[in-house]
Amino acid sequence: MTSRKKLIAGNWKMNKTSADASALVAGIVEAVGRQTDVDVVVCPPFTSLESVAKALEGSTVKLGAQNMHHEAGGAFTGEISAPMLRGLFATHVILGHSERRAYFGETDAAINQKVLAALKNQLRPIFCVGETLAEREAGATLKVVQTQLEAGLQGVNQDQASSVVIAYEPVWAIGTGKVATTEQAQEVHAFIRGLLTKLFAAPIAGKVRILYGGSMKPSNAPELLAQKDIDGGLIGGASLEARSFVELVNAAIAAK
Ligand code: PGA
Repeated sequence: MTSRKKLIAGNWKMNKTSADASALVAGIVEAVGRQTDVDVVVCPPFTSLESVAKALEGSTVKLGAQNMHHEAGGAFTGEISAPMLRGLFATHVILGHSERRAYFGETDAAINQKVLAALKNQLRPIFCVGETLAEREAGATLKVVQTQLEAGLQGVNQDQASSVVIAYEPVWAIGTGKVATTEQAQEVHAFIRGLLTKLFAAPIAGKVRILYGGSMKPSNAPELLAQKDIDGGLIGGASLEARSFVELVNAAIAAK
């Protein structure tokens, strides 16, 4: 039991055409589009944001993007800004995902600029941190998470902090089927909560949702979601089918 409302977010990554996205979101809305026990966010690719936004109208499911540029506008070919996302009624944006860090060279400093820009535009960042397998094996997990967290949240003020959602995603667990044990996950989540308490006032740190991400699926979700500091999930693979995503939302409702 905790005062934090659980949050299940689907990260569709570079999957689903517009037509496929409409079918998926229709299934999600039908099954869990009216419940208010947990927060549900879907994050389609940019190309489907508008059609998914329309499909979500009148439901409790919220819309998120997977990335954005930190500037509001200008000569940045191929990029999308926070005001553009707000214009489509997006409420959340995933920032600093390990795939953005690894394949697109996003640094802690660049991610920090995005976090600040998102908050300035009333978008809730789903800010991702997590260690690689080599870093875990070298015993550097907590140090890596601390560095990413402190750098990414630099300049975030007390008023903004409770709007931030953190996602702890061990890189070695993403898309690999290798889920972190509940003990491994809870240890890092509790560590993150402690860091947040140092950065912000304790009542604010207590409100921040910390999601787990990395091969979360209906079979392992109940145990993860029962942990004290695990407030939901950022779901990749299992968010691509309505049935498994809905099962995850139901697992969060059961764990609330
Ligand atoms: P996964 O991805 O659930 O497919 O492991 C999670 C993520 O990358 O956000």
